[in-house]
Amino acid sequence: MKVIIDNKEIEFTNDDQNIVELAARAKILIPAPCYREDKNKGCCEACLVEINGKPAFACSTKPEEGMKIIVNRPDLNQLRLAKMKHYESAQFNLSATCGGDCSCSEDGCSEKSCSDSGCCC
Ligand code: FES
Repeated sequence: MKVIIDNKEIEFTNDDQNIVELAARAKILIPAPCYREDKNKGCCEACLVEINGKPAFACSTKPEEGMKIIVNRPDLNQLRLAKMKHYESAQFNLSATCGGDCSCSEDGCSEKSCSDSGCCC
């Protein structure tokens, strides 16, 4: 099975769980801080790509045969950069308010809400 990422044909198997990992194998890097840190997967939105003409989050999308995925394009790069900055700033605010011990209350979070584990984005 194959997908195309930034005009590169990339083979995958059913073991490939998401576009972030698949792209990394092809040396195409997609920022995925909340996925990599495994704090609150799916909250940073910094892994935004375009799949078959529609926006999608690479960390939560499993590759499917024939997908056409765009990672590197100026508008997408800018959006990802903005999301990264936002995420980093929220993480900073979080550690500033609760010491980063992941036991903050929802009031202490600058973004979204705390998860069951207490981490927030
Ligand atoms: S890596 Fe954070 S939403 Fe995908």
